[in-house]
Amino acid sequence: MSFFQNVDGGVEKTERKPFSGKRALVIGGTGGVGKEIALLLAEAGARITLHGGSSQERLAVTMEAIYERGGEADGFLCRIDNVEAVDRVFSEYSACAARAAYLSRNERFINGAYHSPDILVYAYGPFKRAALNETSAADWQFLTQQNLTLPGVAVSRVLPSMLERKWGRILLFGGTNTDVIRGFVTTTAYSAAKTGLGVLAKSVAKAAGGAGVTCNVICPGLTDTEYADEAARAYNQGKSPSGKALSPKMVALTAMYVLANRSINGAIIPVDEGVVV
Ligand SMILES: NC(=O)c1ccc[n+]([C@@H]2O[C@H](COP(=O)([O-])OP(=O)(O)OC[C@H]3O[C@@H](n4cnc5c(N)ncnc54)[C@H](OP(=O)(O)O)[C@@H]3O)[C@@H](O)[C@H]2O)c1
Repeated sequence: MSFFQNVDGGVEKTERKPFSGKRALVIGGTGGVGKEIALLLAEAGARITLHGGSSQERLAVTMEAIYERGGEADGFLCRIDNVEAVDRVFSEYSACAARAAYLSRNERFINGAYHSPDILVYAYGPFKRAALNETSAADWQFLTQQNLTLPGVAVSRVLPSMLERKWGRILLFGGTNTDVIRGFVTTTAYSAAKTGLGVLAKSVAKAAGGAGVTCNVICPGLTDTEYADEAARAYNQGKSPSGKALSPKMVALTAMYVLANRSINGAIIPVDEGVVV
């Protein structure tokens, strides 16, 4: 029995690909944790639209990795620096999905179900370390917009179609230790925004859980990605309870479990080996 068994809410024991026929948009899907989730979702049958920031190479490498695993993917780059960028992301998504629908002659998507994905993974979430008394107004605006406002805008955007289809999966990413309200010495703005995502997830669960839509937040521990520099790697390693930072794949495996189970809804889930930062 696989842990994907109840993706549709049933208890069927089956080895079929659990996300077959579903379209996933992974925002920040070309690197780090988002990339690993995109790969696993593709293996599980979802058609993936990858969003990346600026690296054409990372986009190409991730698409290639999906093809190599027998998956289906398209993708685009779009820097997210203001609220309007979310509109651009969804326009690009629709263009990718419409093209794929046309090429595959997929009735469901040709008839318009491509404006919004079945699965939204919002992985991108920039981080900046600064003492509270050195956090500028611009830092506050940037970090809260990127880590709370824009995920919120994206969720509001996908929710109507998910409700209409009576199926949807939304996965958001908190910060390390933002699973409950805590104080933070050097990441107050980032962590405050990330803690707020819990309210967003619980609100979706309350409003749309009955219609088969789930929204959850995973709070990773210190995770080594290709974006971590030497100093970040050393910090992550030193602070991690096992003496080793998490791999993006470890976080992604939990993400898949959460996405596959409709009974997990409005949850804020630390995947962090119990680290305290
Ligand atoms: N890594 C950790 O230790 C850690 C710990 C706790 C929580 N988290 C949270 O977990 C999530 C995933 O983190 P991560 O470290 O794997 O990756 P990340 O740096 O948040 O995201 C990388 C992805 O975002 C894209 N991206 C980068 N800058 C962008 C921009 N200006 N506009 C649009 N897209 C942009 C990248 O594309 P390009 O490669 O093209 O730039 C890539 O696809 C985040 O929400 C993060 O806050 C991470």
